Amino acid sequence: MKIIVIYKSKTGFTKRYAQWIAEELKCDMVSYEKVSAASIAEYDCVIYGGGIYAGKIGGLKKIKPLLANKPKTKFIVFATGATPSAAEEVINTTWKVNFTEEELEEVPHFYMQSGLSYEKMGFFDRLMMKAFSKMLSKKEDKSTEEVGTQLAIIRSHDISSKEFIEPIVKFVRLQR
Ligand SMILES: Cc1cc2nc3c(=O)[nH]c(=O)nc-3n(C[C@H](O)[C@H](O)[C@H](O)COP(=O)(O)O)c2cc1C
Repeated sequence: MKIIVIYKSKTGFTKRYAQWIAEELKCDMVSYEKVSAASIAEYDCVIYGGGIYAGKIGGLKKIKPLLANKPKTKFIVFATGATPSAAEEVINTTWKVNFTEEELEEVPHFYMQSGLSYEKMGFFDRLMMKAFSKMLSKKEDKSTEEVGTQLAIIRSHDISSKEFIEPIVKFVRLQR
């Protein structure tokens, strides 16, 4: 099975996960910016990864149509984010925002917690995070998940780990 990992990464977290997955599966890897329908035509399996920005998986909207008329190509998605892996409800909401009900059943999807890098963020993203952080800190009656998020986004952190790729790697190996 010919596999390619495509990634969209602003601050490097998704790229690192894409590299780990491609190394483990010994397959090709390319950045989102270089992808066209023609360039992925030869692959049996396309693994797409993007960072989550305000609930949206970066680049997924552009990738989906490239796979739309290729029923034989296995399409798998992973998303990286600062949401703690234990916050299942938040992560499930993210999937529902990014996929239709049909897609949710058809497209295997995996979440990998990564972190946050204020140093590598662009100006507007930094502004947005600071505003979000301030809004959360002012909010009364925060849920446990909101308290967790508030603490997580105060500063840059990196908890990405190669072990988080295990479920997706296992899944792909079972397809072979
Ligand atoms: C403006 C902004 C919005 C973000 N929104 C979310 C979010 O909704 N959910 C989440 O889990 N992480 C969120 N994050 C954290 C990123 O998803 C996380 O750092 C991700 O791994 C970035 O991937 P990249 O470095 O490959 O672009 C956000 C980060 C920024 C800068």
